Amino acid sequence: MQKKEEQTQKRSSSIFNNIMWILVGVLLAYNIKLYFDRTSQVQYEIKGNEIIMQNNGLNLQNLQLSSLSKVLSQNPQTTKLDAQLSINQITDFRDFFASLENLNNLNELSLFIGHNPILNEQQQAQSLNQALAKLTKLNTLNLGLESLFNYQSREIIFKGLTNISGLTSLHVSLINCDLSGDGLKSLYPLTELRNLKFLELLLVGSKLKEEEMKHLQTILHKLPKLNKLNLNLYANKIQIDGAVTLSGGLFQQRQLKEFGIDLYFNNITANGTESLMGVVGTMENLTSLNLGLEFNYITNDGGRQVGKALEQLKKLKDLSVNVASKNFGWDGYESVVSAIEKLPPLENLELIIGVNKCGLPGAELLKQTLFKHDKLKSLKINFLENYIGDAGATFIAEGIQYQKNLQQLSVNMNFNSLSDRGALELARAVKNAKSPKIVDLRVSQNQITDKGIKDIFLLLEQSLPKVDQLEVELLNTALTNATRDDIELKYGKVEKLQIKLNTIPPSNWE
Ligand SMILES: *[C@@H]1O[C@H](CO)[C@@H](O)[C@H](O)[C@H]1NC(C)=O
Ligand SMILES: *[C@@H]1O[C@H](CO)[C@@H](O)[C@H](O)[C@H]1NC(C)=O
Ligand SMILES: *[C@@H]1O[C@H](CO)[C@@H](O)[C@H](O)[C@H]1NC(C)=O
Ligand SMILES: *[C@@H]1O[C@H](CO)[C@@H](O)[C@H](O)[C@H]1NC(C)=O
Ligand SMILES: *[C@@H]1O[C@H](CO)[C@@H](O)[C@H](O)[C@H]1NC(C)=O
Repeated sequence: MQKKEEQTQKRSSSIFNNIMWILVGVLLAYNIKLYFDRTSQVQYEIKGNEIIMQNNGLNLQNLQLSSLSKVLSQNPQTTKLDAQLSINQITDFRDFFASLENLNNLNELSLFIGHNPILNEQQQAQSLNQALAKLTKLNTLNLGLESLFNYQSREIIFKGLTNISGLTSLHVSLINCDLSGDGLKSLYPLTELRNLKFLELLLVGSKLKEEEMKHLQTILHKLPKLNKLNLNLYANKIQIDGAVTLSGGLFQQRQLKEFGIDLYFNNITANGTESLMGVVGTMENLTSLNLGLEFNYITNDGGRQVGKALEQLKKLKDLSVNVASKNFGWDGYESVVSAIEKLPPLENLELIIGVNKCGLPGAELLKQTLFKHDKLKSLKINFLENYIGDAGATFIAEGIQYQKNLQQLSVNMNFNSLSDRGALELARAVKNAKSPKIVDLRVSQNQITDKGIKDIFLLLEQSLPKVDQLEVELLNTALTNATRDDIELKYGKVEKLQIKLNTIPPSNWE
């Protein structure tokens, strides 16, 4: 058994030790070695040629990082490394990068170092550049550089990537990095990765506005033709012009098979949506689309544009649409849901289309749509604040029960003016559905009484033998303390069941 000889390994509790070694023995039986270095508080696991270091948020300092660097030096044959080192107190990564550099069999690297108070960042960037440039066998790279590095340093790092000619899959997180002005130009070296097939860029809260989208357009133009692209632009200040510019870039990537774009918390409005959906509608080979347009003031017109584009995507298998928006009315809703109805059968559908008061007709339309898509493996409906009432819930319950291949079901009907009857119909749908393993049912902020809630649990109880996990949220209903206590006593310890209950009455809604 390989034993670690690090610093002073004073192990105070022998009982703890014995348990640890038994555990290690079990893990060894599966060729897994798990270490928790108690003097340096670092964690790592070695599975064959794979090393996993899960050390996010442990307050690690440089000294502790050096014991992880040693692990790298001692395992030069490693082909896969997952180094989670974010949110610590590390000021200097250079030794770690230098050890990384010698793993020249590495195919897959995840390196997350965001949120550390690094010093001399340009030198650190240089050292990371050098390490990356040597890892020429990498095909998959995930880089987490949240809240780190200025323009020059970032550019140095990305230039190191250009030596990895076989890189096919790249994920870069620059969450909370200031990329305003020319910031995105630091990503230009990525366009030299001629074998890249999958790119994910997390540019969340990165101070991007209209002008900045020109650089993103350039990048999208110059990149090789990708199969898969995921752009997360959450919490920036992109408006109509930015959306138009971005769409121009996406036009060069309309061969995509999988595309995700999250613009949550920008302001592209109906006009920006028209431009974006104009391009998405031409991505005729898409099998997977993830569209996040919540909180963008897209209005009815934007909804119509979304519907128009969706109708054209005849190869879609997986669809996630988030168009929840306060000023998004019936026409927009109808366009989106009717377009989905017209698509060939999907395998996975997520529809986040709340806060638009689509009411009973909206629920009926969704039922019709679910009848057309009866081969779903995963169905997630978020109908938050749609005022569908009990009759609406009955429609949706019918749509759910019509499914024959469900593995996962998630239904959020919070704030929908339901009473016991509607909530029970949804619980019955969960009981009757064939045959989700994972279920998440939320019916909070509805007028559901003690009797209703008891009956809901009697129904859900019957689905327990066939599910792996059942989560139920019933917050802010008409539940009383006595019944809450009964429910908690009866179901609180049921392993597969996770319940969120309280006895705060529903808040007032219009
Ligand atoms: C990376 O590529 C550049 C340009 O092709 C070359 O000058 C440099 O030596 C390479 N770096 C390594 C570490 O191979
Ligand atoms: C979709 O795939 C077909 C067949 O491979 C190809 O001819 C067509 O150009 C593709 N469409 C786009 C927009 O790339
Ligand atoms: C969103 O964009 C529209 C149109 O450009 C503009 O009139 C509106 O003030 C913007 N709203 C916000 C919150 O920025
Ligand atoms: C949005 O588009 C409409 C119709 O194309 C146009 O009349 C309007 O001026 C545009 N609004 C803005 C803010 O660009
Ligand atoms: C119900 O329970 C909560 C704590 O869970 C307590 O604060 C509240 O006073 C109780 N209400 C009644 C009517 O007993």
